[in-house]
Amino acid sequence: MIRLMEKSFFKNEETKEALIEFIRNTDRFSMGQQCAEFETAFAKWQGRKYAVFVSSGSMANLVLIQSLLNSGKLQKGDKVGFSAVTWPTNVMPLLQLGLEPVPLDCELDTLNTSSAQLVELLSHTDLKAFFITNVLGFADDIDTIANICRERGILLIEDNCESIGTKLNDTKLGNFGLASTFSTFIGHHLSTIEGGVVCTDDEDLYHHLLMCRAHGWDRNLPEQYKNDLRSKNDVDDFYSLYTFYELAYNARPTEIQGFLGNHQIQYLDQMIGQRHLNFEELNAAVINAGAIGINSSHLSLVSNFSIPVVFKESDRFETVRDLFVKNGVEIRPIIAGNILNQPFYKKQDLPLSRLPNAEIIHGNGFYFANRPDLTNQDKDLLIKILSQA
Ligand SMILES: Cc1ncc(COP(=O)(O)O)c(C=O)c1O
Repeated sequence: MIRLMEKSFFKNEETKEALIEFIRNTDRFSMGQQCAEFETAFAKWQGRKYAVFVSSGSMANLVLIQSLLNSGKLQKGDKVGFSAVTWPTNVMPLLQLGLEPVPLDCELDTLNTSSAQLVELLSHTDLKAFFITNVLGFADDIDTIANICRERGILLIEDNCESIGTKLNDTKLGNFGLASTFSTFIGHHLSTIEGGVVCTDDEDLYHHLLMCRAHGWDRNLPEQYKNDLRSKNDVDDFYSLYTFYELAYNARPTEIQGFLGNHQIQYLDQMIGQRHLNFEELNAAVINAGAIGINSSHLSLVSNFSIPVVFKESDRFETVRDLFVKNGVEIRPIIAGNILNQPFYKKQDLPLSRLPNAEIIHGNGFYFANRPDLTNQDKDLLIKILSQA
């Protein structure tokens, strides 16, 4: 069986041993030094000034949107574009926090939204922000999208939960907009079991993220900013630790997650490098099988954790899907398909735009694993199945 997820960690046994040792020797499990060190390491690795570690990628999205509202960068009722092929907790925070989500279709050969689609949408709808998803380690022309957003005053934020490490013209995905979110869930690139990160270079947004992550209090803020806030709000000493400035959550990670992040990040480039090589080999086989296949010629590094197989024709899709299942390969739909088809979205009483490419991906697509520990035997079997398809 070639499973979508096999082990909890890269270098699984070694990591578990290190975790046991850490637990034996520490008395601090709530957010502390390990989490702070992981934030520094992640920000450096990503090439961003600030990283805020949270309990999941979903909370990274929620905390980011709430912080944009708290800081006044977004207002309730603003229209925010989003990629229709995404994960539910990308668009859910927009709905939960009173923004108006506007879906964008994607291109079939990248699974991602393109500048052409953005331009078409902007010809009839004004957006305040665009919360783009970088789908499955790929991107379309996000550099052009970033330029359009800059020219039109649209705030660009990236959900990079599926694409840690992918590079377009040597710029890492997650560095094209004001802020970006990441997931460190076990099935993704770097496992802290559960976990997420928000990155930005904007100092004010960073301070808001720190407050929003933990109850809306000021305890995690830099000293100067904390003192300013206290004097502006006339807070006395007695109440200083129990004053809550902003709408917030408790989205703090634990030291176990911090420790795992610090341990796994040393392997991140190695894991991504292996996935890139697997992708090149397996995507070529997907194309040979007559599927649409991914065009990644504009990407200098593809950090992809599962290989999509999409057919234009549904009968071909069904035949190949069944062949994978018969040969013991675990498969699943592409992310959540077209989000507009999901029951939670239909309940929202929003216009259900026609998104022909997202519909093809929803109806005629599946994906199988691209793990860094896939063996040559695994890859041979996958290529053999595709050649028989
Ligand atoms: C695009 C996208 N955004 C957000 C998330 C949520 O991340 P998490 O599972 O860490 O909550 C996922 C999870 O798969 C995702 O694919």
